[in-house]
Amino acid sequence: MKNIDSHGHVTGRSIYLDDIPTQRGTLYSVVFDAPVAHAKINHVDYSDALQVPGIERIITHEDIPGENQIGGIIPDEPLFAEDEIHFWGQPIALIVGTSEHVCRKARSLIKIETEALPVITDPREAFAKNQLICPPRTFKMGEPDAVWDACTHVFEGRADSNGQEHLYIETQGAYAWEMENGNIKIATSTQGPTAVQRTAAKVLGLSMHNIEVDVTRLGGGFGGKEDQATPWAVMVALAAKLMHRPVKISVNRMDDMRMTGKRHPYSSDYKIGLDEEGHILAYEAMIYQNSGAAADLSPAVMERTLFHCTNSYYVPNVKATAACCRTNLPPNTAFRGFGGPQGMFVMESAIAHAAHEMGIPARKIQYKNLLKDGDEFSYGQIAEHANAVKAWDDASRTYKLSAIENEVRTFNEEHHTEKKGLAIQPVCFGISFTNTQMNNARALVHVYHDGSIHVSTGAVEMGQGVNTKMLQVAMNTFGVSANRVRLDTTNTTRVANTSPTAASAGADLNGKALEIACTAILGRLQKVAAEKLNSAPERITLKKETVYIDDAPTELHWEELVMTAFSHRVSLSEKGHYATPEIHFDKSREKGHPFAYHVYGTAIIVVKVDCLRGRYVFEDVNIVHDFGKSMNTIVDLGQIEGGVVQGIGWMTLEELSFTKEGRLLSNALSTYKIPDIYAVPEVIDVKHLETAGHELAIRKSKAVGEPPLMYGLGAYFAIQNAVKAFNPGYLPKFDAPFTPEKVLLSLYEGKEIGVKSGKGALES
Ligand code: MTE
Ligand code: HPA
Ligand code: MOS
Repeated sequence: MKNIDSHGHVTGRSIYLDDIPTQRGTLYSVVFDAPVAHAKINHVDYSDALQVPGIERIITHEDIPGENQIGGIIPDEPLFAEDEIHFWGQPIALIVGTSEHVCRKARSLIKIETEALPVITDPREAFAKNQLICPPRTFKMGEPDAVWDACTHVFEGRADSNGQEHLYIETQGAYAWEMENGNIKIATSTQGPTAVQRTAAKVLGLSMHNIEVDVTRLGGGFGGKEDQATPWAVMVALAAKLMHRPVKISVNRMDDMRMTGKRHPYSSDYKIGLDEEGHILAYEAMIYQNSGAAADLSPAVMERTLFHCTNSYYVPNVKATAACCRTNLPPNTAFRGFGGPQGMFVMESAIAHAAHEMGIPARKIQYKNLLKDGDEFSYGQIAEHANAVKAWDDASRTYKLSAIENEVRTFNEEHHTEKKGLAIQPVCFGISFTNTQMNNARALVHVYHDGSIHVSTGAVEMGQGVNTKMLQVAMNTFGVSANRVRLDTTNTTRVANTSPTAASAGADLNGKALEIACTAILGRLQKVAAEKLNSAPERITLKKETVYIDDAPTELHWEELVMTAFSHRVSLSEKGHYATPEIHFDKSREKGHPFAYHVYGTAIIVVKVDCLRGRYVFEDVNIVHDFGKSMNTIVDLGQIEGGVVQGIGWMTLEELSFTKEGRLLSNALSTYKIPDIYAVPEVIDVKHLETAGHELAIRKSKAVGEPPLMYGLGAYFAIQNAVKAFNPGYLPKFDAPFTPEKVLLSLYEGKEIGVKSGKGALES
């Protein structure tokens, strides 16, 4: 079944926030934000700005009737700065006027006097100065200190990965208006409607029942709208409340890039110990997360970094510590993989380091250490249905790994100015919110008496196709065709207290809740059908819009059945509630069973590096992925392709750059390069690993949103291998992204550039 949104997207009829018709009298707004990263505010002069024709009001912290506080996990983030600025781009005021244009004009006239305070942009410096968001945490299994001496090889090093801009096509925005009795309705582009509702209530001094949040769909979120869609929505809700007028904000790209947090940059130290044959005996990591100026989701992201610090390898002795370091960057936030990719990068760097020193390909070490059933993760969960080896073997067989190895070797022997690099990237990702209590969802289903079905869930559509999957759950449970089912917007009045659509768990959690609701109505319909047909409910099934008894079709059609139930005064509405069973985690011991299941897969990546220019092309990305029993192969394939390209972008082109003063330099698409059509791999081939799926996955179709991003890690190591083939003097460094500039420098590092250089590029 194709994505139910594809027709609307292609014809331009899909509704995004900015397509919602505005009401008469709507006002527009722009945020005035901090022009420095850390300072005391002495004075802000709004007088000239207020003179601009069309400006209706400038709203600051002083106008807030409730609390000036939007922090979700830790209350450390004001909606509007009060006396101090903590990051460049921090909101200070909301300028409200008759057009966005006049608001921008007014913004340019605001004068602010500040007193500079020291700026920290580096997480290690923050750590040294004890600037921590929360106490560091350590995951430990076995005793690394007891085995270093027994290791044949021990290597220590450092791995850094930069942040990443979400670059959702639709920037942040929201539209709010007052309804009767002071209630507020907010249309917004958020992954977390309940977070918006809760925070708006807190800031406006209202109760949650006074606020209705409605989300049609997002033009991409990627984690950037899990928490950070909230401030804009709260600001316009506040303005609507204070001014009794509808107020809209539509943040432009530069404002969005400057003011919002991104993927967390990380800097880490690792130590890895191996035996003679390459078995990893011990691994230790000290991980510094650049959290930015406020907590946002950083503690949860840091937790997932620890969960994934050994990726898909079994390591008997592990000690990993991570710290959320407070710096003066915009508060960093969720981004596809949620800290997992950063943790895995450190492990893969350690393995690449070991392989380099031991003079063997990294894949020899990777393969030897893949997780097997019964292996324990450092957090106590036991690997079950571990498909790591299966995925690797299948990839190796399907894509003829030894032929690829030969091809790369031969190419490198025959070419001097171009070199190929090969890397294999296994991935193991845990599915569930790491915070156990968030793993619940609800759905509301109405069957109308004409046989049409209306579905609301807590899931937010952001391009990942969750609505298509929800529709499939309803149509399959009732045995009706797709056009019977309508997916409504995500709305806090229809489905309450939702977790954000995140952690790749949106389809599982909401799909299970929906299945529960549909099954309850189905049970009532089976009874009605049994009565009408003189049969027993257990013998009744619904298929192809027809009632079946023991697999034989009857004359009773879906529409007639529904009408009969209605006329018998049987309820045709139901809500479903689902909470993932079996999962638990004890933070005091850092042990438990936090994940419903794990998703596995293996990517084989081949890159060709132009050794004169430092440029590279990914020729082949071949993936064997564990979808379980995919309920929608086209949607899931889209997730793999998008995820792997986004991961490759993070590892190669996308270079966030801040000045020492904390100003974002890469603040537009001209200075922040994401993969375009020329940069994506020439071939991305995805093969389904044949597995049974998992009972805790919706219809045994495993979660697919985030895991494929981590295949992109292999891009770094593929390039590194090509560089090594060209420059034997290169000392491997682990400092992502591997931009063309860095590649060029690495190709000639330690080489004397000139006619003398042996077999190198310049000679030929
Ligand atoms: N795919 C598209 N097209 N757009 C997105 O914003 N977000 C990703 C992933 N795939 C995203 C996407 C992230 S970060 C997550 S957590 C999951 O989708 C969320 O959706 P799911 O839980 O339904 O998989
Ligand atoms: N993943 C994604 N988002 C989250 C999580 C998680 O584990 N926990 C809280 N928000
Ligand atoms: Mo995804 S980072 O969990 O929104």
